[in-house]
Amino acid sequence: MVRSPENLGGVALLGSGSALPSQTLTNDQLGQRVDTNDSWIRSRTGIAGRRVIGSEESLTELSCRAGRSAMEMAQWDPDSIDLILLATSTPDDLFGSAPKVQAQLGAKNAVAFDLTAACSGFLFALVTASQFLRTGAMQKVLVIGADQLTRWVDWDDRRSCVLFGDGAGAVALESTSSEDDCLIGFQLKSDGSRGDCLNLPHLNQFLPLVDGISHEAGGFSPIQMNGQEVYKFAVREVPEILEKLLKVHEVLPDSLDWLLLHQANQRILDSVAERFSIPNEKVLSNLANYGNTSAATIPLMLDEAVKDGRIKSGDLIASSGFGAGLSWGAALFKWRGPV
Ligand code: COA
Repeated sequence: MVRSPENLGGVALLGSGSALPSQTLTNDQLGQRVDTNDSWIRSRTGIAGRRVIGSEESLTELSCRAGRSAMEMAQWDPDSIDLILLATSTPDDLFGSAPKVQAQLGAKNAVAFDLTAACSGFLFALVTASQFLRTGAMQKVLVIGADQLTRWVDWDDRRSCVLFGDGAGAVALESTSSEDDCLIGFQLKSDGSRGDCLNLPHLNQFLPLVDGISHEAGGFSPIQMNGQEVYKFAVREVPEILEKLLKVHEVLPDSLDWLLLHQANQRILDSVAERFSIPNEKVLSNLANYGNTSAATIPLMLDEAVKDGRIKSGDLIASSGFGAGLSWGAALFKWRGPV
């Protein structure tokens, strides 16, 4: 039943899941390809290794594994899912990979589509899903964040290739009463005027067709990044948007159980935590093992901390995603877990 605007419901996070490729690529191994080394990468980024999708795996398969695991935790029947949102900028099919995921999960009643917002993708998808759930238009939504940036990295560009890895994470969201709402608030932002510092642009190559008519060739150039500009953007905008979110909802940084940021660089995580005087023990970080997996980092980290028992039912989490676009956002939510 669709609810009226004055009678909106809530959103509960009931399940989490994640999946990683089997191939591990260490910093030392990367040093065989480009002029870099373990100590430079660790000291500038905190990254020690990353996972890379190989020939036996795919982004769709990883997304399914993560989604299935979240469904299992939430104890959902695949038939009961209304929507599958796949946040990715690197689909297996440019027309969208979400329908393949829907079919492979056997979620035959679900509508499925991709959502592209680079490293902010998961957060944007979480908020998008929550709108369908609050109105009661949908009851169960599976949000998956998955990316395969190793497909689009220039492996000869040491300034960017050391940062990225592949992975997938998912959450199972259910419509609930407003009293049980777990998504306390959010803020989302875009600024395309600053987007040139991080791109994955099309090839811009035109070929003759017939009678002087040309057409553009398909394909994309590798990732282009101005690391210092992106770094400055992150350490300026993330604290600002988090501060606004906390203020609007009258939440003090002290009362947060966890800070769950997009895992781009340990120095960015440390800098944001310092701004709010959040102690290290409350800052979730696994980028040493996986690098920046784009739309996957937040649900991947969430799932790890839920499964190892760090995040408990009722814990209050401040999260922020940021990246290409430029796009960034923040959300304040409570983890519920299976009931
Ligand atoms: N190994 C060894 N040396 C490297 C290197 C590498 N992988 N990458 C760059 N260098 C060198 C540079 O060539 C430069 O040398 P020079 O001084 O002789 O010219 C030196 O290290 C410093 O380069 P700089 O670009 O100033 O490093 P930095 O401290 O800014 O760190 C990043 C680079 C990319 C780690 C950092 O800018 C960053 O993390 N930015 C954010 C990127 C990001 O998170 N992107 C995704 C957002 S979703």
